[in-house]
Amino acid sequence: MRNKLLFSSVLLAASVSLSAQTSATITVHADQGTQIIPKEIYGQFAEHLGTCIYGGLWVGENSNIPNTNGYRTDVFNALKELQIPVLRWPGGCFADEYHWMDGIGPKADRPKMVNNNWGGTIEDNSFGTHEFLNLCEMLGCEPYISGNVGSGTVEELAKWVEYMTSNGDSPMANLRRKNGRDQAWNVKYLGVGNESWGCGGSMRPEYYADLYRRYSTYCRNYDGNSLFKIASGASDYDYNWTKVLMDRVGGRMHGLSLHYYTVTGWNGSKGSATQFSKDDYYWTMGKCLEIEDVIKKHCTIMDEYDKNKRIALMLDEWGTWWDEEPGTIHGHLYQQNTLRDAFVASLSFDIFHKYTDRLKMANIAQIVNVLQSMILTNDKGIVLTPTYYAFKMYKVHQDATYLPLDLDCKIMDVRDHRKVPMISATASKNKDGKIHISMSNIDADNAQEIIINLPNIKARKAVGEILTSSNLTDYNSFDNPNNVKLAPFKEVKINKEELKIKLPPKSIVTIELQ
Ligand code: AHR
Repeated sequence: MRNKLLFSSVLLAASVSLSAQTSATITVHADQGTQIIPKEIYGQFAEHLGTCIYGGLWVGENSNIPNTNGYRTDVFNALKELQIPVLRWPGGCFADEYHWMDGIGPKADRPKMVNNNWGGTIEDNSFGTHEFLNLCEMLGCEPYISGNVGSGTVEELAKWVEYMTSNGDSPMANLRRKNGRDQAWNVKYLGVGNESWGCGGSMRPEYYADLYRRYSTYCRNYDGNSLFKIASGASDYDYNWTKVLMDRVGGRMHGLSLHYYTVTGWNGSKGSATQFSKDDYYWTMGKCLEIEDVIKKHCTIMDEYDKNKRIALMLDEWGTWWDEEPGTIHGHLYQQNTLRDAFVASLSFDIFHKYTDRLKMANIAQIVNVLQSMILTNDKGIVLTPTYYAFKMYKVHQDATYLPLDLDCKIMDVRDHRKVPMISATASKNKDGKIHISMSNIDADNAQEIIINLPNIKARKAVGEILTSSNLTDYNSFDNPNNVKLAPFKEVKINKEELKIKLPPKSIVTIELQ
């Protein structure tokens, strides 16, 4: 049904001639919603990489930077505002070299290690299991632990699970108590390895499938805690990995991960985060939208083995990946974040919402100071990125009912034979019956008038917010932190079951119908 709608919208886009001012029409089917958008689609990812943890989330109790028990207060407050549902940690590639026992107990006694994946930085393990799980409790989000399969042992991972979740008189629970935490934490999500085809062990899928079976056997459910075990999944277009895992692991996993980055390629320059042409921008939109085809293809394979959709697809890494900012430490993946990045977020969410019958989680990479982050920090303060504002605007869709829509708009041919519709949109109805519609006008130069048909819905009022800026390359810096920010949006006219909206060029809007 959903695919049919999409197909028809493409045909219509080519054949319907819209009136002079109207550049798009959207029909929201408010009575056809069946699927809940899991809040975990708005998940985050924090890795021991660059200044994501140290300097980003954590400065330690003795820092001059204002903190609460070591957590940066400014970052914490900004994250609280985003209503983060789930946070993945400690990696990424770092996870498969991480030995959790190094990160517990008195800080002075914790051994150091070399962070081989990320610039050879010395990791002092001052942020470990307690610091992470306590942060999740404070943020009110689910922890997602990424376990070490690449260089760890079955025993090590099994004991970590016991340490975190056992409430009994067990050796690991007692060790935890000795380290100051009486009650077990609730830990639902457990990743069994990360990118096991690459930095997580360079394995073949057949070999990893067997390892997954072995490791996951010993990750027990203690004292009412029920683990949701996630197998390390494919990169982008590697459909064979998904096929082999579905075939050889099947129902032994609750979720299978997938990684997809909006990136020009893995060799050579990925392009500047802030200096790009309009052509580059449209290419980025095309590459970002391609994730829909990738998700569909992985889902089709999963459907072949699991018709009842018991196994979830978990997109536990996604986002933009540009060249590191000049002058920053190589290997720390610190990048700026422009309005273009915010579009990658909004367009991605519009797609994710359509596939939540299978796609149950997505974790943007990463939360602070790394890749497409929400927040950038220095010793004096923080900057909220355009991506932060896209997440803020879209949080109304968390746990709301997805409303199918038809969308007819102009489509642009872009570099590398991709096609980019000039409007992207999504709609949902929350538990209070309020409808939210998010729309992106991808067109860099032209405002677009959108007619939204709302059969059987009589809205009295529409209030909204807009994210835009003078240039696509605009970003927030420590000198100019409010260059790109949200503003009230009022360009909505209501006429019975129809809304007329004027979207400025390069803008993202969410409206609430009242
Ligand atoms: O997010 C940065 C890295 O990208 C992660 O550590 C790894 O899983 C992926 O290759």
